[in-house]
Amino acid sequence: MNDKNSFIECFRGAAPYIHAHTRKIFVLQISGDVVASDGFSHLIHDLALLNSLAIKLVIVFGVRPQIDKILKEKNVVSEYCGPLRITDEASINSVMQAVGDVKIKIEALLSMGLPNSPMADSAIKVASGNYVTGRPYGIFNGVDLNLTGKVRSVEKETINNRLEAGEIVLITPLGYSTTGEVFNLSSIEIATQISIELAADKLIMFNNSRILKGDNGETIRQITCAEAKTNLDADSKKNIDETSANALAQGIKACESGVKRIHYIDENIDGALLQELFTLDGVGTLLTSTPFDTIRQASINDIAGIYELIEPLEHQGILVKRSLDKIEDDINDYIVLVRDGTVIACAALHDYPKEKVMELACVAVHPDYQNQSMGEMLYKSIEALANNNGAKMLLVFTTQTEHWFIEKGFVETEISSLPIEKQETYNYQRNSKVLIKRINV
Ligand SMILES: CC(C)(COP(=O)(O)OP(=O)(O)OC[C@H]1O[C@@H](n2cnc3c(N)ncnc32)[C@H](O)[C@@H]1OP(=O)(O)O)[C@@H](O)C(=O)NCCC(=O)NCCS
Repeated sequence: MNDKNSFIECFRGAAPYIHAHTRKIFVLQISGDVVASDGFSHLIHDLALLNSLAIKLVIVFGVRPQIDKILKEKNVVSEYCGPLRITDEASINSVMQAVGDVKIKIEALLSMGLPNSPMADSAIKVASGNYVTGRPYGIFNGVDLNLTGKVRSVEKETINNRLEAGEIVLITPLGYSTTGEVFNLSSIEIATQISIELAADKLIMFNNSRILKGDNGETIRQITCAEAKTNLDADSKKNIDETSANALAQGIKACESGVKRIHYIDENIDGALLQELFTLDGVGTLLTSTPFDTIRQASINDIAGIYELIEPLEHQGILVKRSLDKIEDDINDYIVLVRDGTVIACAALHDYPKEKVMELACVAVHPDYQNQSMGEMLYKSIEALANNNGAKMLLVFTTQTEHWFIEKGFVETEISSLPIEKQETYNYQRNSKVLIKRINV
């Protein structure tokens, strides 16, 4: 595919997401490590792009390595209690200095707009202020954490007003008290609390180490809250560092408090945020309360998706041609596997109740998702459905997929052993193999 075609395909693929994200609230937590990374300016420019698409952005940044650097220059050794820094009167000045530096850096980068693009002159407005009130963390494991604090409250209405005005809201990891004190807060906790208070559509946390990995080091793309909790069990927790475990725990909290999607993104991948937001599969780990992939009975809203999925297979002669009207007539027989609202696999189960036979037809997995056990998952649901319906036999006609079904326990049979109705409509020109599997035996 040439560059022009791939651009057109990408842009078309992104269109539904642009539509879905417009005017939605995204809260982003950016750790101090990410701020210090080489790709930070690209990330900020991607945020400017999101702002130009009318996505409401709240950015909460952290400054841990920046504080460490300043303290080191002053020959001050910071003390920690577990994962928490003990912020005394002397070190709060270094915290404020680090926060000021990073805040100015982000504002400067956002002021550049979108260089070398038609948006270069568009003015991006950044709002920040005393939007977060803090209180002392108190005593942790017997140690007074002094000016290390927790979120007490969030100026929800003010933040909402700024977002409505099209401004990016920039939140520092500081909390102010009614008595004029300044507390050093965790950016993860602030981002979580703000996402809950604003009922944000997404909470997005950047940090490579927070991406969940499977046993073979592969990125876990989706995880439910229930599954994520097992990662925080005493045994599994040994495999994640404390900050990542905290980010996961806070993500679960946000998710259980109604934030629909929590994304953990690797900042080291250039354009990771755009890929995560504008492609079906993304690149990070998505935490949701319900599974990302669902298998369910199809509805009329799935007709176009089913048609788009099976049409190329019909052209290749793998599936029998079905019109949109035919799919609509049979829609109650269809089962679909849906990822993020897109049909990525389907099958139909036609019932011959008199003979207690169910015919499995139109089995298809989108080419991008084949060999990932999607077909297996779909088949298992279908066999369970046929079992629940009291069918005694599953039947399938196939020209090119015989062995896939044989591995699932199907055997070849004669046309004469089919229900009469099926014998009469058998297409001798297609010459499909007839396979059956006895169930409920
Ligand atoms: C057949 C199909 C549904 C399988 O779905 P899938 O999600 O890719 O399959 P799974 O991941 O569950 O299983 C993958 C295994 O099936 C095998 N397989 C895939 N297509 C096959 C075929 N046509 N014949 C035999 N085996 C096949 C793969 O080689 C793989 O085996 P391996 O793990 O030993 O390497 C999918 O490939 C598809 O949509 N094909 C085109 C449409 C089609 O043939 N439909 C059936 C009409 S009757």
